[in-house]
Amino acid sequence: MDQDSLAVPGRVNLIGEHIDYHGLAVLPMAIGRSVRVSFRARSDREIQVASAGYGCRQFEWTANLACAAPGDWENYVRAAAQAVSRQWGVGLGIDAEIESDLPSAAGLSSSTALLVAVALCLLRANRLSPTFEELMEILPEGEQFVGTRGGGMDHAAVLASLRGCASLIEFDPPRMRAIPIPGGWAFLVAHSLERAEKSGPRREEYNARRAAGSAALKQLGFRSYREVLARLPEELPENFAQRLAGRERDSFLHVTTEALRVWDAVQAMERCEPQLFGRVLNESHASLRDRLQVSCPALDRLVDTAMESGALGARLTGAGFGGCAVVFCRAGDVEAVEQGLRERYYRGQPGFDPRRHLIRAAAASGALANSPTTHRGDAESAEATRRKP
Ligand code: GLA
Repeated sequence: MDQDSLAVPGRVNLIGEHIDYHGLAVLPMAIGRSVRVSFRARSDREIQVASAGYGCRQFEWTANLACAAPGDWENYVRAAAQAVSRQWGVGLGIDAEIESDLPSAAGLSSSTALLVAVALCLLRANRLSPTFEELMEILPEGEQFVGTRGGGMDHAAVLASLRGCASLIEFDPPRMRAIPIPGGWAFLVAHSLERAEKSGPRREEYNARRAAGSAALKQLGFRSYREVLARLPEELPENFAQRLAGRERDSFLHVTTEALRVWDAVQAMERCEPQLFGRVLNESHASLRDRLQVSCPALDRLVDTAMESGALGARLTGAGFGGCAVVFCRAGDVEAVEQGLRERYYRGQPGFDPRRHLIRAAAASGALANSPTTHRGDAESAEATRRKP
């Protein structure tokens, strides 16, 4: 096989945090930073991946792969191989070279982009071209190989987002609706300069949030959060929460109110109401900080500084515990907001690198939009665009 190449972008979640794993809709967008791979199929089952700056990893692709050392990036390569072989069997291996301009441990899905990129290379090397739905069946589940019990938001966003649009992603079954971002709206991704390691010590904290939300559901006798949401037009989340305490109560309130905020944000975007959009972003941050407790002092300060600098809304994005905030402002204010952040947040911080830590985020296409083999994901997105929530 000849040399081939592909790119998988990162994503920034605009709103809908810590709810995808409960099957609730979220609103991310893909960004113009990506993991790029050039690769070639081998004639045996070896998988060899070299990454600029991170060395080389090689292993034999077998049906039941064991984990590599905890925290090692090889686990995402193994997770990809395992996910593919669970569905389609072990195939030919690859020689691959990876390059990335996506900051790691920032909450921008660099690990999911790596996993998805390797999976797409293996599929292409073996002449398989699954649809978006088929990929969504194996990839989120596949990532649990590394021990994070995440949801499907990142995989869907990096696969099927459309340029210039936010992606309203629903689950069970996975669906995507492209929401055009109004002209004159701008997003910055600002790093708190605290690393948010997804597979490191924060993993247990992340999994604990999911467990508390599920425990709350069980205590209330619901089978899913979708069932709860169906009751919300008549009832308030607080009415249910009265029967809960502690972490379960806080998680329940975060999940239900965040789900409602996603739909408010979609409406604000569709009606071009920037003030409302900004307000729900701020409410989301407050809920993540106070109820779910996944923020940290640096992220809170970053969000406050963004607001003082002229943003209309700002919130932590991704799993939290460090990483980035997404900052929303009018396009005409973006330079002033950037300037404010540089002067009031980043000044004197020796690790600050504007190319990695303060990014103007334009909504980019997902990997399927650029792939000659998987057009159905695109067609589905376009079809879903015509559907109403
Ligand atoms: C991580 C996970 C996602 C999602 C977010 C929090 O990024 O990979 O599935 O749960 O955290 O919203």
